[in-house]
Amino acid sequence: MLDGKRILLIVGGGIAAYKALELVRQLRERGAAVRVVLTEGGSHFVTPLSFAVLSGEKAFTDLFDLKDEAEIGHIQLSREADLVVVAPATANLLAKMANGLANDLASTVLMATDKSVLVAPAMNVRMWEHPATSRNIAVLRADGVRFVGPEEGDMACGEFGPGRMSEPSEIIDAIERVLPSAHGVSLKGRHVLITSGPTHEPIDPVRYIANRSSGKQGHALALAAKDLGARVTLISGPTHLPDIPGVTTVKVETAADMLDAALAALPADVAICAAAVADWRVAHQAEEKLKKAEGQTALNLALSRNPDILATLAAPSASRPTLVIGFAAETETIITHAQAKLSRKGADWIVANDVSPGTGIMGGGHTEVHLVSGTGVEDWPAMGKDEMATKLLARAAEALHAMQLAAE
Ligand code: C5P
Repeated sequence: MLDGKRILLIVGGGIAAYKALELVRQLRERGAAVRVVLTEGGSHFVTPLSFAVLSGEKAFTDLFDLKDEAEIGHIQLSREADLVVVAPATANLLAKMANGLANDLASTVLMATDKSVLVAPAMNVRMWEHPATSRNIAVLRADGVRFVGPEEGDMACGEFGPGRMSEPSEIIDAIERVLPSAHGVSLKGRHVLITSGPTHEPIDPVRYIANRSSGKQGHALALAAKDLGARVTLISGPTHLPDIPGVTTVKVETAADMLDAALAALPADVAICAAAVADWRVAHQAEEKLKKAEGQTALNLALSRNPDILATLAAPSASRPTLVIGFAAETETIITHAQAKLSRKGADWIVANDVSPGTGIMGGGHTEVHLVSGTGVEDWPAMGKDEMATKLLARAAEALHAMQLAAE
């Protein structure tokens, strides 16, 4: 059910716009309030009047309509929604989104929003397969935009291939996945602390020890926590990922800085340690760039143990978060290692996954995890890192709720 959810639907200029009418009808049937913004192209395919009748609200098209702007401005349009859905998302609209163009009401609303955005692309197969579209999609995915479809099939232009917009029922399924609070769980009023990415441990002013963590999982967790209504602090080692609007991001380099930032962010209800923290740092960082001597064939670097952030946060104390979750990236005997880690670090849950090179999990978009807790092991099917994040945060919300009820 989507009772009380507010969806802002942006309708682009493609023949699939007719399916957006059915989408509005089905969303309202499920209890959502829908407000529609059409691009000029969209209004050539379906009239704003049709959307107004089905949504029960005025449908907007013009950025420079003084009356609309006075009554409800473009910023307000984007802020009042729980989720922004773009259906159909044309190649042109995706290109504008990827490049931050804001030259009509639809694109301006998309630039002004701090809410999650779900897009349902629809276009000719050649436009979908064009390298420019692939580039734009990669940028949008990195920005945290979610996608549903396109599907493969016969197209209105007489061709066959991927490019058909997903059916309204599939778009609604995707909306419910992005808005898990649609199922009644929420993290409103909770503070979620997440560590993410690698750490860089300096050797000298220009060199460092690092690892291959991309930070994708931690960023996906931050976005999922935000979507569930939490206040989120993301403590991130160096990554190439853009900041997530609405999430407080603290950028750090070393494990020691990450620990300081994590402790400074307390109190928190949930702490999730997804960072790939270096176990060791160089014991004596050189103040000047290290030089190699003539004939030198080896260099010995003394290393010291880094603090364990997860174990520190999970240790019994007045400021221990209610739920402390760690990750275990393993390449063999995954569950046994994860169970040992659970007790050694004092965490409540460990999310264990196999990061053997063949799996493509490290740095990739997918993951396959096992949720290990004091009460047992759950094997989750393979899924996208963002879907896993949504599922884990929904679980955390349920657990907090259950603990609160038990304490009352
Ligand atoms: O000990 P190991 O690195 O396998 O443990 C992984 C888990 O512990 C992850 O959740 C990671 O974020 C956390 N960790 C940490 N600080 C460290 C090492 C690991 O928070 N120094």
